[in-house]
Amino acid sequence: MPDPTNLPAWQALQTHFDQLNRQTTRSLFAADPHRFAKFSCQLHDLLCDFSKQLLTEQTLDLLASLADQAGLRAKIEALFTGEKVNITEQRAALHTALRSPAETLVRVDGRDVMPDIQGVLQQMDAFCNRVRSGQWRGYTGRPITDVINIGIGGSDLGPLMVVEALKPYAGDGLRSHFVSNVDASHLVEVLKKITPETCLFLIASKTFTTQETLTNAHSARRWFLEQVKDEQQIAHHFVAISTNRAKVVEFGIDPANMFAFWDWVGGRYSLWSAIGLSIALAVGMENFRALLAGAHQMDEHFRHRPWRQNIPALMGLIGIWNANFRGAESQAILPYDQYLHRFPAYLQQADMESNGKRVRNDGSALTTSSGPIIWGEPGTNGQHAFYQLIHQGTRLIPCDFLAAVTSHNPLGAHHHILLSNMLAQSEALMTGKTAAEAAQEMQTAGLSPAEVQRLLPHRVFPGNRPSTTLLYRQLDPQTLGMLIALYEHKIFVQAAIWDINPFDQWGVELGKQLAQKILPELEPGTPIGDHDCSTRGLIERIRQLQS
Ligand code: F6P
Repeated sequence: MPDPTNLPAWQALQTHFDQLNRQTTRSLFAADPHRFAKFSCQLHDLLCDFSKQLLTEQTLDLLASLADQAGLRAKIEALFTGEKVNITEQRAALHTALRSPAETLVRVDGRDVMPDIQGVLQQMDAFCNRVRSGQWRGYTGRPITDVINIGIGGSDLGPLMVVEALKPYAGDGLRSHFVSNVDASHLVEVLKKITPETCLFLIASKTFTTQETLTNAHSARRWFLEQVKDEQQIAHHFVAISTNRAKVVEFGIDPANMFAFWDWVGGRYSLWSAIGLSIALAVGMENFRALLAGAHQMDEHFRHRPWRQNIPALMGLIGIWNANFRGAESQAILPYDQYLHRFPAYLQQADMESNGKRVRNDGSALTTSSGPIIWGEPGTNGQHAFYQLIHQGTRLIPCDFLAAVTSHNPLGAHHHILLSNMLAQSEALMTGKTAAEAAQEMQTAGLSPAEVQRLLPHRVFPGNRPSTTLLYRQLDPQTLGMLIALYEHKIFVQAAIWDINPFDQWGVELGKQLAQKILPELEPGTPIGDHDCSTRGLIERIRQLQS
């Protein structure tokens, strides 16, 4: 593929942007009362309203041409059919197969992967039933009460986000805990809440070599054995989820208690695999399967709908419009849904580890910016923290608003207050407040003409700040599956246009290598190797204060 910025559609978009930029979204709304209908689309209960973006029919046509010229359709097929789209690691990226119906045929290196996937799902099903029903007993014969997932990155963020999001489906069953940070405080605070008799540790690591996870897992094992004093009992309280059987055995977990997945599942795309065991234990296998089914619905929509009605394609292309033409550097994720409070954190890894790349697939440097900075907080909290910058700051920050129409916890006026705030924010960002409107408001409030003039610049809102609203009936497992798959595919669309590989993460390696080198140097008396004077100075200070 040529440099995307040399594609005819890219150049046409640049010219189009220069013209459209003289208008505002507010003026586009004023000119077209049907704008909402034209610039929104739906998949089942999920409505995506992108009419508050600065775009026209022509923008969408040009973005669709860009998708065609970048070969997006063929790239989607390559993704779904198991081609080795992860070109730096020579791997397929088949998270979509994990949520496909059993009868689908998906091959990797000529081998149908579906029987393996179904086999692990059945293993998870049987295990979840035993644990959740109390048949699986701890070493004293008591049933399991607490499940502790030890993992990091994709082996933590996805499952944690989903377990939080689906709390209404967890009932009074097992308590879920997640330990990711190698800072011992994370593990120790969880250990304070549990007892060896009734705990079940899930050691979740694709590679089973990740320093943080292995350190936490060994410390958990030590804590357990210090109290139980019988290695045989490990089998009742530790299971592993990994692609690396040899390392699991080396750790001391019986392979019978291992849940497998495969190298063609990327870490940050792995919640659909056995990495989702903590989800299935928390909410039951039926709900886990509903999550998969929702994601599959989004997969089918993405694979088959034309660009103009294709929600992930539209969100990806609009993201490119905002980032590469309008100059946005970040993307705010603003769920007006407390159950999605970990969704921005989950998306940080999904998006930034995928599209935080500086070279194209052929190794040449990108000539345009790639993945945006992803950040956010649940509404309405963010309104009282950082929204000021979104409304009146100097940067353009596109926002995704997400909300359920029906609350799991109807309580007085809460839900209407929540929804009205979300609607008000997206409206305010789009319309802003002109100088005339601000002046009128102040005059009506009785301010003197001098005061009005003095305050006027501070009270004007430029508006024209883009947002997309995703509205769904209720945050149930199926809808959540759709939402997650939507963002996965949005990320894929952008990678396809930028011609980058969203499935590797070489950028996290350098820090890991250096940490290995520095670790022994923190011990007093050991020689300190070659470092810049800042790193050296900090190592010396740590040693000094610890002595
Ligand atoms: O350091 C980044 C990373 O490799 C992520 O991509 C991955 O999700 C995480 O580490 C954890 O890896 P693992 O599941 O192999 O422990």
